[in-house]
Amino acid sequence: VTAAAWPSPSGNILLGVIGSPISHSKSPVMHTAGLNALGIQGAYVPLHVAQGKVGETIQAIRTLNFRGINVTLPHKLAVIEHLDRVDRAAEAIGAVNTIVNDNGILTGYNTDGIGYVRSLKSEAVSELSGRRIMIIGAGGASRGIVDALLQENPSAVIIVNRDEEKAKRLAEDWKSRGDIKGIGLDQIGRYIVGTDILINTTSVGMHPHTGDMPIDPDIIPEGIVVSDLIYNPLHTRLLLESRSRRGCTIHGGVGMFIYQGAYALEYWTGMPAPVDVMREALLNSLG
Ligand code: ATR
Repeated sequence: VTAAAWPSPSGNILLGVIGSPISHSKSPVMHTAGLNALGIQGAYVPLHVAQGKVGETIQAIRTLNFRGINVTLPHKLAVIEHLDRVDRAAEAIGAVNTIVNDNGILTGYNTDGIGYVRSLKSEAVSELSGRRIMIIGAGGASRGIVDALLQENPSAVIIVNRDEEKAKRLAEDWKSRGDIKGIGLDQIGRYIVGTDILINTTSVGMHPHTGDMPIDPDIIPEGIVVSDLIYNPLHTRLLLESRSRRGCTIHGGVGMFIYQGAYALEYWTGMPAPVDVMREALLNSLG
C-alpha cells in the first residue's frame, strides 16, 4: 500500500473518532493495532467534539484530509446533514458511524448493524436465512440490527419493547423488507415460542447493573441462540443463565464492536481487516 492510495499529501492515512465523551473509546487502540498489522503508516486519534460543533469538525476533516472518521454518541444523527452522501442503510437507520473521504467527497455509512451480523454469523450461527429472530429493544441499536438482519432473509423478525408503540413504529418502518412485527414486552410469552435467535439490544444488564435481566430466562426456548449487544460484562447475566438453565448457545457484544470497526477499516483502506489482531488489542485494553 502506498500513500497514493489516500488523498493525504502527508503520506499518512489520517483516521479518528468523534464523540463526547471520547476518552473511554476503545476504537483508537483497536484501529491502531489494525493499521500496524496491515503495515500502513498513519494514525487513528480520539477527537473530542462538543454538541453543536459537528459542522465545524467536518469542515476541519475536509481541510486536514482525514481519510476516515468514526462517529459515536451523541453525533451519529447530527453529522448526516454535513456529509455529501449517505448510503442506503445509514439513511434508513438514521445514523452514521463511519465516514469515508474520497478526494473531498464525504460519504456516511453505518457499520454497526452489518458488523453485528458478521459477528453473529462468524461466532454463533452461520446461516440466518429462514430463522425466526426476536429482538428486545427498539432504540437506535435495534434499528441498525433490524436493517442488517433483514438482508439475511430471516423467516420473521419480532421486535419486543417495553414501550410497545416504539416497537410497532420500528416494524412499520421496515415492513417492506420482510415479515416484521412489533409487540409489547408484556406479550413476549406468546411470541417467544419458535424463536431461533433471541437478541438483547437494551442496556439492561450492563455494568454496573450486572444483576439485571431484560426478561426471565425461564421463558427462553431450550437450545436456541441468545445474543446480547452488551460487552461490559463480556457475558451478561442473561447470557450466562440462558446457557446454564436453558442450554443455549450464547453470543456476547464484543464481536459487534470489533466487526463494526473491521468494516470501517476495510472501507478506508480497501484491505481485509486483521480481525484477530483487532480483537486481541481490544480485549487487552478491556483488561
Ligand atoms: P440504544 O441506542 O442503545 O438502542 P436507546 O435508543 O435509548 O439506546 O434505546 C434504549 C432501548 O432499551 C429502548 O428499547 C428501551 O425501551 P423503551 O423504549 O421502552 O424505553 C430499552 N430499555 C432501556 N432500559 C430498559 C429497562 N430497564 N427495561 C426494559 N427496556 C429498557
